[in-house]
Formats: sequence, C-alpha cells, structure tokens
Amino acid sequence: KRQQVGIEALAIAVPRRYVDLAELARARGVDPAKYTSGLGAREMAVYDPGEDTVALAASAVSRLLRTHQVDASRIGMLVVGTETGVDHSKPVASHVQGLLKLPRTMRVYDTQHACYGGTAGLMAAAEWIASGAAAGRSAVVVCSDIARYGLNTAGEPTQGAGAVALLVSEQPDLLALDVGLNGSCSMDVYDFWRPLGRREAVVDGHYSIQCYLEALSGAYRGWRERALAHEVVRWGSTTPGEQLARILYHVPFCKMARKAHTQLRLCDLEDAPNAANTTAEAREELAKSSASYEAQVASSLSLNARVGNVYTASLYLALAGLLHAESGTLAGQRLGLLSYGSGCASEFFSGVVGAQAAQRMARTDVEAVMARRERVSVEEYERLMKLPGDGPEVLAPAPGEFRLAEIRDHKRHYVEGA
Ligand code: CAA
Repeated sequence: KRQQVGIEALAIAVPRRYVDLAELARARGVDPAKYTSGLGAREMAVYDPGEDTVALAASAVSRLLRTHQVDASRIGMLVVGTETGVDHSKPVASHVQGLLKLPRTMRVYDTQHACYGGTAGLMAAAEWIASGAAAGRSAVVVCSDIARYGLNTAGEPTQGAGAVALLVSEQPDLLALDVGLNGSCSMDVYDFWRPLGRREAVVDGHYSIQCYLEALSGAYRGWRERALAHEVVRWGSTTPGEQLARILYHVPFCKMARKAHTQLRLCDLEDAPNAANTTAEAREELAKSSASYEAQVASSLSLNARVGNVYTASLYLALAGLLHAESGTLAGQRLGLLSYGSGCASEFFSGVVGAQAAQRMARTDVEAVMARRERVSVEEYERLMKLPGDGPEVLAPAPGEFRLAEIRDHKRHYVEGA
C-alpha cells in the first residue's frame, strides 16, 4: 500500500467585521443583483490594519494547534503562502513561529506566486513528506491574505481577507493527496499584479478571467492525462471530470467557480473519444449544465460567499466550507482542486476524503468563527479602508487571536487576546 500524505486538519481565521454586498451595491448606485447574482457574493470581510496578514495567519495556526491538540514538536516545516506579506525580507512565517512559540528545529519560509502561493507551499510540504525527508514529521502550511482593490473600483466587491491553516502529514484525515498526478500550467502574463509599495492591486479584470480559464484548461488536461494513465478516471458513459465527487476552484468571486466549471467540462467534452459525434454548440450547451454545477461545485462556496476573495486561501476556504457541510457523505470519495495565481500559475490536483473527516470537522469551529463577526455599515467600511496600514486601532483581540498593536523602529509588535 502506498504511503498516504495530505491534509490532517485545518482551521480558519477571518476579520471580525463584514459588510453586506447588497448594501454596498446600493451605496455605489449599482443594481444589487450585479453583486449577489452577477458575482455570486453575499458578504465581504472588512479588516482594519490590526488584522494584517501576520495576525490572520497566527490566529489560524493558533486555532489549528488548539482545536486539534497538535504536538508542536511534531512540526518540521512552517510555510506561509501569501501575496500580501509585510516585509520584503522577513517572512510572515517567521512572525508566526515567534508568536506561537514554535520550535526552532523547523524549516520556516514564505512562498509567493499571487493566489497560487499557498498551493506551492502545500505541494512542497506534501512532497517533502512523501519523499521520506520529513522522517515522520508534519508541516503546517498557512494561506493568509488581504485582497484590496480600493474604494469605487471594479474590483471593490471582490475584496476580502482571511487565513486558512493546514496541518499536512502522513495521517490525512481530511484529504489524502494523489501525489504525482498534479497538472500545472503557467504563463508570463500581466493580468493582476501589485507593484512594490502599493497597497492596492492593479488588475485587468476581464483579461484575468480569460487567463484563469486558459491556465485551468492546461492544468486540468495535465492532471487528466496522468489520472487516466493511473486509471483513477476513465473515458466511459461519464467524462473524467464527472467522476470526481466535487471540484473545488480558486474563488476570486463565487461566479468564477461557475465559469471555471463550464471550462473544465468543455475540456472533457472537446477531448472525449466521441467528440466528433457532437457539434460545438451542443458541447457548449452541455458544458454549462446547471445540474452538474449544483452537484459538483455549489456546496463548496458557502464560506467564500460570506468572506470574499482571500487570494491564496480562497481554494482552501472552499475546502473548509465543503468539508464543514459534507464531510460525512464524502468519506472515501475523490475531490478535484484547481489553484490559480495571476501572473500566472495554476495547478489541478486531487485527493480522497478521509474516513475521519467528519470527526475532524466536528472539532473545527468554522461556524463559531463566522458567527462571531459583526456587520458594519458602508460608512464604517470606508472609514476602516482609509486608515493607514501602519495605524492599527487599539482593540483587544479575542482569546487566542492576534492583532498588530504598533510598528516601532520598523518592527511590528503583536498582541494576543487573553
Ligand atoms: N443583474 C445580474 N447580473 C448582472 C447585472 C445585474 N443587474 N449586471 C451585471 N451582471 C453580471 C454580468 O453579466 C457579469 O456576469 P458574466 O461574467 O457571467 O457575464 C457579472 O455580473 C459581472 O459584471 P461585469 O463583468 O460587467 O463586472 P465588472 O466589469 O464591473 O467587473 C470583475 C467584474 C472583472 C470580476 C471585477 O470585479 C474585477 O476586476 N475583479 C478583480 C479581478 C478578479 O477577481 N479576477 C478573477 C480572475 S483572476 C484570479 O482569480 C486571481 C485573483 O484572485 C485576483
């Protein structure tokens, strides 16, 4: 039997405030249906400068270690995937190590390639363990980001913030990864970027959607080729994509997952051995199937619709939402996951939900974390957005959570809630 490697447990952290997107639409003079139905969003996390990438990452790791009683001496690697780091040199991971008093005997670093950075970290950790180099140790991979486009921009309703911490080990209670099947596709494009010194991303929005779909096609076809060769999927009365119980996508806004799913289905329908029997129009119509989207994708989007874009963490927030809702029925079934980072890089990979997933998720207080949030008005959201990045408000963090307190002598100081 092959050694198993994958995600043993997870935890999330989100800012304490959110804004309602129908209300934001009205404030912007836009039909609320554009945000709620056109983009598929309901609420958007609103952060203040105290809830920076480090604070969110440390809060997620703290919750992971606490709720799953992780023995920190087991951890040999700590990786933070982020595109909104706080220093050009010192990694977010180093702050997290210090704040959580994690052992010195670890590899500690950040990974960056836009929203793909977290997946780069997850694969480094999984392959480190699979190679045997970890010698029984586990890794913690954290995806933490703040998505910021600015007030009154087209990207405004697709902002958000949060973190997801993953414990990666030889005991993949949540998801055993199919190591070696991953398909990658990367291209040098300017679809979304953030020049040094800018807080707001620069984005060519419609082009970024095209890049995402093109990269998805390449990554999915790469995975499918290997999955067919290993007889994990096959061409038959259903397509290879239809043989995955659920497919999770990078979610910059929920509607993007629907576009992505249509594209993935189109790849299968175009490449099927019997494709010549159908017309291009018929294939396009089939690819758009609502039934397929509802069955394979929709149930993973509940948290994303309430938090917004979390860049590196978006795909893993979808995983948290899916397993929170369905881990009992999905045990033993295979999921497909598509990671996309602008610039661009994408990877399609798969894994099998573990038999212990429901027990693990029962200990993962996703609902409690979401329920603690408070709704703020559009005026309050705008006030918080205008605060300088180095000027956090003086607020006490909740127990077990962290906040940036001040920046003194170019050093960041954090406080932990008691
Ligand atoms: N009722 C219902 N739907 C409506 C509507 C109404 N009154 N008005 C518009 N819509 C629909 C539109 O038809 C459209 O849907 P389709 O795409 O299915 O046609 C949708 O609402 C959005 O409308 P527009 O395209 O006109 O919106 P926009 O031009 O204002 O901006 C956006 C949309 C390009 C996504 C913009 O929000 C943006 O730039 N976001 C940031 C970039 C981004 O998220 N890119 C995603 C791919 S890149 C990536 O994934 C990496 C990452 O994380 C950034």
